[in-house]
Amino acid sequence: MECKTTEIARDTYRISTFHPSHGIQYNQFLIKDDEPFLMHTGTKSMFQSTLQGVNSIMDASKLRWIGISHFESDESGALNEWLDIAPRAQGVCSFVCSTLNLNDFSSRPPHSLSDGETFKIGQHVLRFISTPHVPHGWDAGLFFDETEKTLFCSDLFAHFGDVEPMTGSEIIQCAKETIQNNPDLLPYTLHTEKILQHLADLKPKILAVMHGSSFSGDGQKVILELNAVFEELCSKPMDTPKEDFFTTLKA
Ligand SMILES: [Fe+2]
Ligand SMILES: [Fe+2]
Repeated sequence: MECKTTEIARDTYRISTFHPSHGIQYNQFLIKDDEPFLMHTGTKSMFQSTLQGVNSIMDASKLRWIGISHFESDESGALNEWLDIAPRAQGVCSFVCSTLNLNDFSSRPPHSLSDGETFKIGQHVLRFISTPHVPHGWDAGLFFDETEKTLFCSDLFAHFGDVEPMTGSEIIQCAKETIQNNPDLLPYTLHTEKILQHLADLKPKILAVMHGSSFSGDGQKVILELNAVFEELCSKPMDTPKEDFFTTLKA
């Protein structure tokens, strides 16, 4: 699988691999700084592709932090592969993620963060936001680059296709279609609205989307639009989609 890299913000690179049978991009994000930070590991099966992408930007053995949103093969599956090639690297995640998953899974102990905690990696300051079940998983959390106003939003706004690296226009309709076709992908809990409001209050300028195009523009507006999409879809019973991600794969 071929990997494409694009600088989406200062020192911030999107490392994208399109999976032809899944019909979706798997995007990792690298902040090249004194303590280089990689957001999501990618799966083990695409590790060589992602490694090639990182090495085209910097020496991957110098990675310091591997940001994990939640425990899932594309988000954290290749963590030990990264720890093997980068001796100073360490997973960084929520306390729940470390307690339930990474303390057991990771070949080196992860570093867990509390909600709102910040850490400096050089020029960039990152903030961790605890976001249980947003996008999904009890252990979920997101990272916000306060320096560049980039929100690494994991599976939020996921959409299909081998799409352009960055868009400044339509993202909410694509995200809505993904939720309609895959209604179990992103749960809407008693806390989701409050969490999305908190993310919107950060006023991100760039949304670094794990699956699909990243977004450049009024991040506050589109996050609130996403909440409105959830409210609309939750307000009436939804028909079971004829074809979701998994039925397409089985066909
Ligand atoms: Fe996920
Ligand atoms: Fe994902």
